[in-house]
Amino acid sequence: MADSARDDVLSFLQRAGLGAKDIVLQTLSGGVSADIWHVTSGDRDFVVKRAVPQLRVAQEWKAPLSRNRSEVDWLNEARHIVPEAVPQVLACDDKLNMFAMSYYPPDLYPLWKRELREGRADPIVAHAVGAIAARIHNATAFSDTIARRFATDDAFLSLRVDPYLYATASRHADLAEPLRAIGRDILATKRALVHGDLSPKNILVGPQSPILLDAECAWYGEPAFDIAFCLNHLFLKCVWVPEAARRFIACADTLTAAYLDAITFEPAADIAHRIARILPGLMLARIDGKSPVEYITDETDKARVRIVSRNLLRNEARTLTTIKTEFASEFAA
Ligand SMILES: Nc1ncnc2c1ncn2[C@@H]1O[C@H](COP(=O)(O)OP(=O)(O)OP(=O)(O)O)[C@@H](O)[C@H]1O
Ligand SMILES: [Mg+2]
Repeated sequence: MADSARDDVLSFLQRAGLGAKDIVLQTLSGGVSADIWHVTSGDRDFVVKRAVPQLRVAQEWKAPLSRNRSEVDWLNEARHIVPEAVPQVLACDDKLNMFAMSYYPPDLYPLWKRELREGRADPIVAHAVGAIAARIHNATAFSDTIARRFATDDAFLSLRVDPYLYATASRHADLAEPLRAIGRDILATKRALVHGDLSPKNILVGPQSPILLDAECAWYGEPAFDIAFCLNHLFLKCVWVPEAARRFIACADTLTAAYLDAITFEPAADIAHRIARILPGLMLARIDGKSPVEYITDETDKARVRIVSRNLLRNEARTLTTIKTEFASEFAA
């Protein structure tokens, strides 16, 4: 780790009152958009996260550093709503784009993505994730205060809609209009506090509850995005770990049902409809957008996902059931 980064962390900790004589910083792996350290300071330990200007992906992708503050704001807000499911923010510094939060050790809180990699697809976890997302969306829906605090439309465009939907539109000329329309409609829907990166790599499986991390894309907008985003990851895991495909699809079903059962701010059928509209766009985006999933590398697999998602995008009457059926017939038969 560079000395300057270490100095920044140390001065942040001193100013925040989290410093001690014996501070040990250990880099946590996995961060594409941030430097993350597990910090032991005297008899305390916690995590320090700092947004980096250029995301660590193959294509050039610069992202606003203000996302560090968006994440802190989301964590603080969500912690009021679902305290058991969100780290506590201990301190933050907007100049250094750094914050400290509670640490969850991996032996007790494994990453959901790692569990899924091993074929452990627990429907209890999926149910809890759906229910937690619904509680956050319910509590923040149609709130002017939340809308003002999370007016991060520019960041959401540059971190989500542009690299996923618009970038994919430019590679699929025949589907450019429907893909762009999905993006435009997402941006135009202002309804609840969106996490923006609800994926198994950002969820720890705790003994009491899943813990949601990595809310840099927090935005007051389209809650259907969160669910479509997470379902898309569960579906694509079928390509990664084919032997667990049926269990992943069962988890997707359970998460959807838990979410739709719990939402109170609009009819479940309306949001289900919008989730189904968005999902195939995100699916194709994880193959041909700016941030393809790292675990689908085989060209035959990519082609299969393209065929399924392109067919779904062409079907304007698609529902969550048709998406599941068509995806499962190719990947979980
Ligand atoms: N509070 C925490 N407690 C324990 N582990 C954590 C914590 N925060 C982050 N981690 C670990 O660090 C990894 C990266 O964190 P995070 O997702 O916040 O960073 P990122 O750079 O935004 O990641 P991404 O690659 O998703 O963009 C997580 O997957 C998790 O394993
Ligand atoms: Mg992450």
